[in-house]
Order: sequence, then structure tokens, then C-alpha cells
Amino acid sequence: MESEWVLSRLFSGEWVSGQEIAESQGVSRAAVCKQIKILRARGYEIESSTRKGYRLACRPDLLDAALIRSGLETRAVGCRVQCFREVDSTNRVARSLARDCPNGAVFISERQTEGRGRLSRSWQSPTGGVWMSILFRPDLPLPDAHRINMAASVAVARAVSKLYGLDPRIKWPNDILIGERKLCGILMEISAEVDRIDCAVVGIGINANVDVSGFPLEWKSTSLSQELGRDVSRVELIQKILQEIDIIFGGIDFKDLYREWCDRSATLGKMVRVTSGGGDVVGQAVELSSDGALIVASKGTSVRVLAGDCIHLREI
Ligand code: BTN
Repeated sequence: MESEWVLSRLFSGEWVSGQEIAESQGVSRAAVCKQIKILRARGYEIESSTRKGYRLACRPDLLDAALIRSGLETRAVGCRVQCFREVDSTNRVARSLARDCPNGAVFISERQTEGRGRLSRSWQSPTGGVWMSILFRPDLPLPDAHRINMAASVAVARAVSKLYGLDPRIKWPNDILIGERKLCGILMEISAEVDRIDCAVVGIGINANVDVSGFPLEWKSTSLSQELGRDVSRVELIQKILQEIDIIFGGIDFKDLYREWCDRSATLGKMVRVTSGGGDVVGQAVELSSDGALIVASKGTSVRVLAGDCIHLREI
């Protein structure tokens, strides 16, 4: 019997008898006792009473694979979850373990010592945030890789809006902002064979319960705890994001995904400066195309930028 299953029974916070757990799993009460011991050793505070059984004293916000998987109703995403106290980068870990991992495997760490951002930047990853990478083996041709990015950013935006009633917006290509402040960054790394994606690692970094007051001002960062004035359950947030991604990959029509990505855009209509391999473009963001490109109206012409760094200058 997996302690994961015992945990899911205790998750409601109600008393559950050892007998009931044992019978429903077809195991002995001693086996249940053993799993309770394992959970306690992992940091769960579990009360016990000879009359009433067991009860989870409080829902800890431990980044624990069993806790994250308990009650996770997904088809593929989160089929395997691995949690670490500290790694250099969950994207790097995911890539190095990819060969032996299934589609939908998730790697999470309490902190990262060498968190990686887009455009070779570093990513601050102190304790309290959600630093996770998801491994995908999508059946997609390489030119459609941007769909994975779209799915991840829409999923995070949906989760943040549903759980906390905030209005997260997607800054092109896939930062999640609250107002004009950055809450989340997404870094996708792909390995491909000929023109098909072999595997994609999608790294999601969310300032959940992170004190961003020490971050450089020019990063314009925010965190969920700053926005809400309280800490959030990272486990609940991770579960919600995994569920939303699973729903999107489970069959949503790409046109709907693309429409939602546009509807949630923070960039459309703004004056922007976009820096890419082709240099700087300043103008109005007038369109997001279905291949993920940003169209900027600049000096009487339309400039298409497929990848780059975007700064919002002001509202029009
Ligand atoms: C960005 O530059 O906005 C993207 C930041 C992505 C950070 C996440 S945190 C989890 C994963 N592991 C990493 O090293 N980076 C990504």
C-alpha cells in the first residue's frame, strides 16, 4: 500500500479509522500503521486516537510528491512527480532524467541554486516559490512547438485566476503578469529529431510565497503572497496548474487555445520595444499570430517577431 493513498484519505482533515483504511485497501492494520509512521517521518503531523483512528492535524505546504499526487485527477500530466529540496535547475534535472521518464513527468524543487531564465538569464529561486519542470513527449512537428508554450501560459493564468480571483495577463511571449508586475516566467527547452519534437521540458517559475522586495526594482516582480497579503498553498497551486495543462493537452482545439492566449494578452494594443536577433523594434503590438509571433506596427510597416524580449512602454 502506498502512503500516497493513506494521505489522500486523511486530506479532508476528518478522523478516519485505521480499520476502514485497512479494509478498503485489503491490507492489515499493521500495514496502515507502517504507512502512518512513514508519513510522520516525512513531516506530516498526524494525530491518532484509539477510538477515532487518524487525523491530519494541519495541511502542511510540503512539496511532497505523494501529497501533490493525492487527489490529482489527470490523464498524463503528473503521472510521475519527483520533489527535491535543492537542485541547480529543475529544467536541467528534467532533461538529464528524460530518457527514463514518461510523458507528463514533473520535477519540483524547494529552491534552485542555478535557476535558468529565458535568453540565458539567471532566475532567482528561493524557498517559497514554485519551481517546476514538466516533461512532454508531444506528437507535434517542430514548427508547432510554440503551442506547448501557449498551453503552459494559459494553464498558469487559468489556475491563478480560478484559485485567487486575480486577473493574470500574458506578456508576450509567455510571462504571467499581475498588473505590470511579473509573477511567473516560463522556459521551454526542446530536443528534436529531424522535424519532430522528441521531448520538451517546460519550466515554470512562480513567485508564490516569495518576498520579492529584495529583487532588483527593474525586474518589476510580484508574488502571490504580496498580491494577496497571505501565503498560498503551493501544493494546491501546483495541482491546479497540472490539471489545467492536462485538460488543454487532453483535447482542447488549438484554435480555442490560441484565442484564449490572445484574450489573456497583456501586450496587445501596447506600445512595446522588442529586442530580437534582428535588432530593436519600437511600435504598437497589433496582433499575435497563431504561430506565436508578435506583429508590431512600426514606422508605417508591420514587423513580425517570432522570438525576443519585449518591454511594455505604455498603453495606447
Ligand atoms: C523567464 O526568463 O521568464 C523564464 C523563467 C523560468 C524559470 C523556471 S523555474 C523552474 C524551471 N527551472 C529553471 O531553471 N528555470 C525554469
